Amino acid sequence: MDGLKIEGGKPLRGDIMISGAKNAALPLLCLGLMTSDKLVLKNVPRLADTMLMEGLLRHHGVTVCREGEIVTMQGGATQFDAPYDLVRKMRASVLVLGPLLACYGEARVSLPGGCAIGTRPVDLHIRAMQGLGAVVELADGYIQARASKGLSGGQVVFPMVSVGATENALMASVLARGTSELVNAAREPEIIDLANCLNAMGAKITGHGTDTIKIEGVTDLHGATHSVISDRIEAGTFAIAAAMTDGDLTLHHSQGHNLDALLMVLRETGATVTESDNAIRIVANGRPAAADITTDPFPGFPTDLQAQFMAMMCIARGSSRISETIFENRFMHVPELLRMGADIQVDGGVAMVRGRDALSPAPVMATDLRASVSLVLAALTVTGTSQISRIYHLDRGYSKLEEKLGKCGATLQRVKAA
Ligand code: UD1
Repeated sequence: MDGLKIEGGKPLRGDIMISGAKNAALPLLCLGLMTSDKLVLKNVPRLADTMLMEGLLRHHGVTVCREGEIVTMQGGATQFDAPYDLVRKMRASVLVLGPLLACYGEARVSLPGGCAIGTRPVDLHIRAMQGLGAVVELADGYIQARASKGLSGGQVVFPMVSVGATENALMASVLARGTSELVNAAREPEIIDLANCLNAMGAKITGHGTDTIKIEGVTDLHGATHSVISDRIEAGTFAIAAAMTDGDLTLHHSQGHNLDALLMVLRETGATVTESDNAIRIVANGRPAAADITTDPFPGFPTDLQAQFMAMMCIARGSSRISETIFENRFMHVPELLRMGADIQVDGGVAMVRGRDALSPAPVMATDLRASVSLVLAALTVTGTSQISRIYHLDRGYSKLEEKLGKCGATLQRVKAA
């Protein structure tokens, strides 16, 4: 398995183009199941996860053609069974459930795998389908769902906020008979992007971006061309990288209003953050000051930036309290950061980080996508050579990471495991 060798200790300076959002692209790709017309998605990042989703769509019978960052889909689905071998590699595969059920009245989707950050059940997805009139059974590791007379509109009340379950419910309800209401829906920018694309395909959705989404069912969806929003988590990762390496980065194709919670905290740590229409500039002012964070659904601090922020707090002036409220097992980066000399104590969902003057080089291992990139950021602050193994996780979510960081002064080299 590939590793990454990093010579750190240099400030990152320069310009980075932010790619399309992985977490927006994955549900948007599933819309290829919902129309036989041509659906063109632009700005789709070339990542292991988006490629996996394209593969899953091909399995379902969709013709998928990629040219650079443009993915064209046509034909709709002819096969309703998403098997274990395809689904286990990526949890977001469960997003085919809503579209298949809505369009074809049946779906059989393996229970998903994905990042090992907690148990991550799919009960909310299932309850949403049931709320729209589907009969759902769990058998042999599969979700088997049926709505032989089509889905019917209804009110789906989520007991907790779930991005994926909101997306599945949204995609299913656009073709349900009558009106639907999703209450306590996720408000993430990726949900807004999905609703915008669905509306461009003929759906009638209002209220996206708030916690109550209203959908008036339509009989079918047509083709459209849609550009995926930029990746706020990628932008946030580089923003933290600038702040913790005493750097100066301008992140193009990124919108500050999707990252308010992070940018506010970065200002608190002493960085100067300037936002313009389509770019964010982060200029560090020496060693960062410590700050506390609590992860929350949007517009709160994103759980997908918690590991990166913790890496920054490891070298901050003072102590930081990091509280993770979304996933119960999302501190897997902690033992690895400890190996680099960090001072972190974990008690349940809370990590207390006491900033050190510096971390030291150590061989470390990546455990999930965001944990992996937090180790890259930590290594970028360290004078000397660090080696991170099992970096295949990075390829799931960061497009051209080495190239983008390399252009800004970082020295990274991919190494093949012996
Ligand atoms: C999405 C993102 C992921 C991000 C997460 C939270 C994608 C492809 N992935 O994941 O990067 O970290 O949102 O912002 O967009 N839950 C249940 N039952 C369910 C579904 C979820 O209990 O049926 C729980 C989860 O275990 C978790 C919480 O709800 O504790 C939020 O998870 P959710 O928002 O669903 O995350 P994902 O959509 O899987």
